Amino acid sequence: MAEEKELRVQKIKEGTVIDHISAGGSLSVLKILGIMGHEDNIVSVVMNVSSHSLGRKDIVKVEGRELNPKEVDKIALIAPRSTINIVRNYVVVEKQKPRLPKIIKGIVKCANVTCISNSAEPADSMFYVEHEEPLRLRCYYCNRYLEKDDIIRQF
Ligand code: CTP
Ligand code: ZN
Repeated sequence: MAEEKELRVQKIKEGTVIDHISAGGSLSVLKILGIMGHEDNIVSVVMNVSSHSLGRKDIVKVEGRELNPKEVDKIALIAPRSTINIVRNYVVVEKQKPRLPKIIKGIVKCANVTCISNSAEPADSMFYVEHEEPLRLRCYYCNRYLEKDDIIRQF
């Protein structure tokens, strides 16, 4: 019943539903997924609906596309409490909770231009996750801090 009352966008047939995004986070999720508004898939964004666990939440539904593990890892940085639902033939066949590892390798770049990870040296970027929410990463090589906004800007 409650579900009926709150249904704002249709169930999808095939694709991905990113649910339980903290309010306001959906635009960052679209950015991470490279959704700029001129692709062929149908994308539905719901902002600020009420949620038992979060108070308010955003939802993004991308039809005809299943996220790959690298995309799930990126979402873990921006929306660590989200749930990623893979839908096939109207049924949720997989539910993933993105996991934020203790160390992040190669997904984001260090903001320090002189950092060895930004040089021609073959050093992949590497960060310690010092704090999850608000997100704060520390570069393994130069100790520069990286925060959520720095990361969103990179995608
Ligand atoms: N969903 C959808 N299309 C489908 C199936 C599900 O858009 N064919 C959406 C639902 O509206 C919901 C999300 O995918 O936003 C997860 O669906 P479901 O697992 O059925 O809901 P819950 O059990 O409420 O999920 P959770 O326990 O993760 O809150
Ligand atoms: Zn660095």
